Amino acid sequence: MAGDGRKEWLGLGEARSELKVYGDLGGPAGLPIVGNIFQVRLETLHRTLEDWADRHGPLYRVRFGTIRMVVVSDPETIRRIHRERPGRFRRTRGLELVAAEMGLKGVFVAEGDDWLRQRKMVVMALNTAHLKSFFEKLVVIAGRLRRRWERAADRGEPVDLGRDLMRFTVDVTAWLALGVDFNTLETRGPVIQQNLDKVFPALHRRINAPFPYWRYFRLAEDRELDRALGEVRKQVDEIIGEARARLRADPERRAAPANFLEAIIAAQEVKGADFSDADIFANVCTLLLAGEDTTANTIAWTIDYFLQHPEHFARARSEADAVLAPATSIDRFEQTGRLPFLDAFFHEAMRLKPVAPIASLQPTEDTEILGCAIPKSTIIMALNRRIATRDENFGDAARFDPERWLVDDAERICPHDTGAFLPFGAGPRFCPGRNLAMLQIRTVLAMLCRNFDVERAEPGRAFEERLAFTMMPTNPRVRMKRRNATER
Ligand code: HEM
Repeated sequence: MAGDGRKEWLGLGEARSELKVYGDLGGPAGLPIVGNIFQVRLETLHRTLEDWADRHGPLYRVRFGTIRMVVVSDPETIRRIHRERPGRFRRTRGLELVAAEMGLKGVFVAEGDDWLRQRKMVVMALNTAHLKSFFEKLVVIAGRLRRRWERAADRGEPVDLGRDLMRFTVDVTAWLALGVDFNTLETRGPVIQQNLDKVFPALHRRINAPFPYWRYFRLAEDRELDRALGEVRKQVDEIIGEARARLRADPERRAAPANFLEAIIAAQEVKGADFSDADIFANVCTLLLAGEDTTANTIAWTIDYFLQHPEHFARARSEADAVLAPATSIDRFEQTGRLPFLDAFFHEAMRLKPVAPIASLQPTEDTEILGCAIPKSTIIMALNRRIATRDENFGDAARFDPERWLVDDAERICPHDTGAFLPFGAGPRFCPGRNLAMLQIRTVLAMLCRNFDVERAEPGRAFEERLAFTMMPTNPRVRMKRRNATER
């Protein structure tokens, strides 16, 4: 591999001999053998990579043991890498292997034709027509969340936003995609989230581990993961079995499946569209996982900004009052499109606190990035958050300013490059759950504004960032108080 300062790089031929090679790139000095591994903590990896970009520029190198990586924070390059998938770039092979070991090789980690087949099913299941017809059920689930928060308010108990919002998001995805009403928001005792919770941190740990020790021995956390995955398998297999029985009892459903699960089972039975049982299990889990932390953490980060900016909370509340009153929550789909300030507010929260601040990818062939020859399979860490927090892309970028999303383009004087705003990724693999996520965010936040005053459970303590595959707030505990009824 070209790490030795050699300028000719066979993959791109003589004509490209002016290109830099990996060894020419700047980057943080590391130690022999281990490289930079002891300079990072997994929980704050994104921040360290962002800080290093300040010092080493838009393309630099990092090494964790034998794993060489380049870190890129140039918007055009990041867009290109996202766009040129699945042909020229892919998600990392490490992620694919680790996810496959857990039985989770679904649409998020699949590549090539496998990916395309799975992607089509997922996109169809999450399209606007399905979201519209699902909306009534979303309203029911939001009502359960409101009652849960009212009970906490009446008892004076703090609310763990992470836990409650993950119950909400999993209930939504399960009902929409699997046709199952988990109702974990009103369930006491064990719920599926407590097992799903173990998966993202384990993925994050394993894909960044310098050595796959778990293939040789299990630590306590690996045994805990095995147990959690076993529980998830039991529950998901049962749900799949019930869906198969429904289709057997009513074969006509195959032509008009009611949800993702019925659609993928029906497709399995059609000659040529081969989904294995493992594909079905992996994709059910993928949808539950992909929709859980991401949406819940985005809502939690947005609430953190409400706590920091009461003036914005007041404005979002007036807007929600005007659109929803006398109802206490959104109850018609069209209302979700009439909350421009709320939209601006959560877009600004996603700009500064995207739950996926880094994307890890690999070129499937030798390539060039910013004048440097990058051999096939080199890990590329794309700093998606950093490009959205640079003054050249968003004016006064460090400032939380929802107004920037409301200014008419013709009247703009500050940079506002929405191409550098990638909370849902970009290109052919961008998040297919984006519209569902935004629907949930609007519904929950409007309900919060209409019904509650909110304050931190530990006054003065803002939420902090913790990366565990997604970027989540640490200890996001608040106190809800019922809003004075006469104000509504
Ligand atoms: C605020 C909430 C969400 C955020 C910020 C988010 C973000 C992302 C990001 C950054 C990606 C990678 C995109 C890329 O590689 O370009 C992704 C992929 C994906 N997301 Fe989301 N997501 C959210 C909610 C959801 C929901 C609700 C679902 C479905 C229930 C979902 C399903 C998926 C799937 C299936 C993929 C894999 C797509 C593929 O590889 O083709 N996401 N999401």
